[in-house]
Amino acid sequence: MNGPDLVIRGGEVVNAHSAVAADVCVGDGRVTAVVEPGTAPRGLREIEADGLLVLPGGVDPHCHVGFTSGEFTTLDDYPAATTAAVHGGTTTIVDFGIPVGDERVLDAVERQRRQAPTGFCDSALHACVIEWDETTAAQLDQAAALGVRTVKMFTTYRGETMANEDAILSTMKHLRGLGGMVYIHCESNPIIEDTQATVAAAGDISAGRHHLTRPELAETAAVAGVLALAEHADAPVYFVHLSTPASVALVSEARRRGIRAYGESVVHHLTLDDGEYDGDHPERFVCCPPLRPAGTVQALRDQLIRGGLATVGSDHCCYDTAQKRSCRHDVRIMPNGLPGVETRLPVMFSEFVATGLITPSRFVELTSAAPARLNGLYPRKGVIAPGSDADLVLWDPNTTTTVRTASLHMATDYTPYEGRELHGIPRTVLVRGEIVVQEGVFVATSPAGRFVPSSALDACE
Ligand code: URP
Ligand code: ZN
Ligand code: ZN
Repeated sequence: MNGPDLVIRGGEVVNAHSAVAADVCVGDGRVTAVVEPGTAPRGLREIEADGLLVLPGGVDPHCHVGFTSGEFTTLDDYPAATTAAVHGGTTTIVDFGIPVGDERVLDAVERQRRQAPTGFCDSALHACVIEWDETTAAQLDQAAALGVRTVKMFTTYRGETMANEDAILSTMKHLRGLGGMVYIHCESNPIIEDTQATVAAAGDISAGRHHLTRPELAETAAVAGVLALAEHADAPVYFVHLSTPASVALVSEARRRGIRAYGESVVHHLTLDDGEYDGDHPERFVCCPPLRPAGTVQALRDQLIRGGLATVGSDHCCYDTAQKRSCRHDVRIMPNGLPGVETRLPVMFSEFVATGLITPSRFVELTSAAPARLNGLYPRKGVIAPGSDADLVLWDPNTTTTVRTASLHMATDYTPYEGRELHGIPRTVLVRGEIVVQEGVFVATSPAGRFVPSSALDACE
């Protein structure tokens, strides 16, 4: 009888609800067994994982690739973004099909979906509804048939992606029937535009003032309004990039009342503060919502530690300094968003696991298992168990490195974490049983990414 294609021996296998010493057997790109250490049959290939954690590959629920907003397009494509992703231990990205110009919802989905085979890891997609018209329901039905059931919506960015409350409610109600969910960027546009006008009238609305233009109240007000729509629709809702403890508290309180509400935060809101806008390169930190005061960041971290957040994404947007500097004088037209798909897991591990604030299992829950569940990808992704894709990360919790742009692989000229010391790194990364990064070195020879269709979310509980 043939043995497994591959055995990973001697590591500590960490899932969202367990962490045990075990050997992992892999065949045909899937996990075939997780067994007592030393009891796996001899594999065709063997990897020694003594002293390492064996994690399910990261699932980044919020990753913009080749994203066009206004005049600007982010600088990466699927080969570049997924190369960066796997170096950072992420083996599934969830990108967005956001309509540009006259594109329909479905056109944008198909445009991004076609790129999946050019990636070095797997991908899934969120659609995006901006306006609800007589074709939208049928387009969402078709998107679901293609495996896209989550839909990004925005309460801000007037004239681009902003949707009104009617569209949000209609989309929520329709997705409920498809086993899908609205993913929503919540910032009250009237509050933002009014605040921007006040800041501009004072004579300076450049990057260094960005944080003053988008107050915490704008986020919290929009979260409250969208929660009411979800309650009325009896539909689940996922709040992307929450940056304030008040928003997280609203989501937690709604959950206590039985509303299926989920909160995501992103690494930069948990680890950077608005002091960056006083630095030499404020434009590099322009994102929406903006970085918050240190006290807000600490309270958000406390929420994460206490279990108030469901997931942690990157909100990866690969603009470079030149793109951002070209609009430095006016944050209203500056491309917003920070590069982060590669640094998401190492920064989170270092800040929260290496410091003892959360366990390795909780880290897996926030960065892999829950994103997989809330995107209809579980248990194919997000867990090391028989039948799951063998997306595996051999994580060294004991090595210390310093973040340097030159050592990263994202298609930009900076990282928001330049010079930060990190404790814990991904050493070896496998996508469906194939090694793509070995001891930190990229060894994949050709792209083999797959688009992973989303199942109805209630099937992934
Ligand atoms: O600043 C951000 N977050 N830009 C990317 C688009 C979005 O709002 O997620
Ligand atoms: Zn957003
Ligand atoms: Zn985003």
